[in-house]
Amino acid sequence: MKEERGSAWDRVWVGANLATMQPGTDPYGTRLDAAIAVRGEAIAWIGASVDAARIAAQDGVPVHDASGRWITPGLIDCHTHLVYGGNRVAEFERRLRGESYEDIARTGGGIQSTVRATRAASHGELYAGAARRAARLMAEGVTTIEIKSGYGLDGATERRLLEVARSLGRELPVSIRTTYLGLHALPEEFAADRRAYVEAASGPWLDAIVGAGLADAADAFCDSIGFTVGETEGYLGAARRAGLAVRVHAGQLCDIGAAELAARCGALSADHLEYLSVAGVSALAEAGTVAVLLPCAYFMLHQQDPPPVAALRQAGVPIAVATDCNPGTAPCTSILIALAMACTLFGLRPEEALQGATVNAARALGLAGDRGTLEVGKRADFALWEIDRPAELCYGLGANPCVGVVYGGRERAAV
Ligand code: NIG
Ligand code: FE
Repeated sequence: MKEERGSAWDRVWVGANLATMQPGTDPYGTRLDAAIAVRGEAIAWIGASVDAARIAAQDGVPVHDASGRWITPGLIDCHTHLVYGGNRVAEFERRLRGESYEDIARTGGGIQSTVRATRAASHGELYAGAARRAARLMAEGVTTIEIKSGYGLDGATERRLLEVARSLGRELPVSIRTTYLGLHALPEEFAADRRAYVEAASGPWLDAIVGAGLADAADAFCDSIGFTVGETEGYLGAARRAGLAVRVHAGQLCDIGAAELAARCGALSADHLEYLSVAGVSALAEAGTVAVLLPCAYFMLHQQDPPPVAALRQAGVPIAVATDCNPGTAPCTSILIALAMACTLFGLRPEEALQGATVNAARALGLAGDRGTLEVGKRADFALWEIDRPAELCYGLGANPCVGVVYGGRERAAV
């Protein structure tokens, strides 16, 4: 059998318990005492440890002993705003004294204050901050990170943010997917002319970003203090025509029908969804749009009504979980904390949470054919964990049981 020829392997990990996350009867796709072989950047073989050891010995393949550790697919953080200047700790204090996120935003704080700090920051400063945050995610087994712009809100600065994101992907051993978040907030200089802003963001700025190959997708904040369904629809339509995948920040602060819009536009994902109607759930299910849940933002804003997880589950909407790492609502660089919160605050089961940072996160990025499960032919991105069972990844608040990462078939050194 072709796959039993160790000469087709570069190296193999034996003695592992695999959570392949392949859909099936067991929600983790568990394979105990298993082995995983790689060739180049791809997974070449998965099978029983004893077979792998025999084949490797015959063919002189380098063997790594996983010593009973668990191996999962490399984790995927499918929603972050990792590149920004400054921080918003003063607003955190204001919120603790009783001001709301919306009121702070309406009086020139919130996203606007990060826009001011970001415009004033150099490429090097933005890169250094984002690289620090990426390193923390990577230490927890993350191998793919989505990064949005949205703190520039002018053509040049939006491009700069995406350039910083792309350069992270070139410099660091992690895959970066970039998202142009042109409609995040209305910048001060356009306060008197919303329409001109939406036109610029949907026209020349979008074209320049697409022309330079800087974005894989487009996103918009379609909500009370963001943009209307009409504004968002025009922008997403332009993004689609320009060849980008689309996603929507929907239902974070109120339900204005953004989830239905996401479904209508064929969005890969609708994100947040604390405010989501029955019709919104059905629309997502029908369109196959992934619901990306962001429990760290919910926690930081001290929100009280979680997304309708039971309805999403029952309708068969794929659920992903991400950090939403950003300076305002989720200054969080721990995907494992996001998984824990998804369980305790939103009622996800640990297997659903882990699906949310692997197979369903890959789907939210349009990468399901290439990563998100341990499967022959997929990218050899995986993480090794010192845990007794996979649910422990959602349990050890602040603990990091990641003891190794393989990225594109090679052991990744700590960054
Ligand atoms: O995903 N809600 C919109 N965007 C971000 C927050 C941005 C900010 O406050 O800086 C979010 O929560
Ligand atoms: Fe976000």
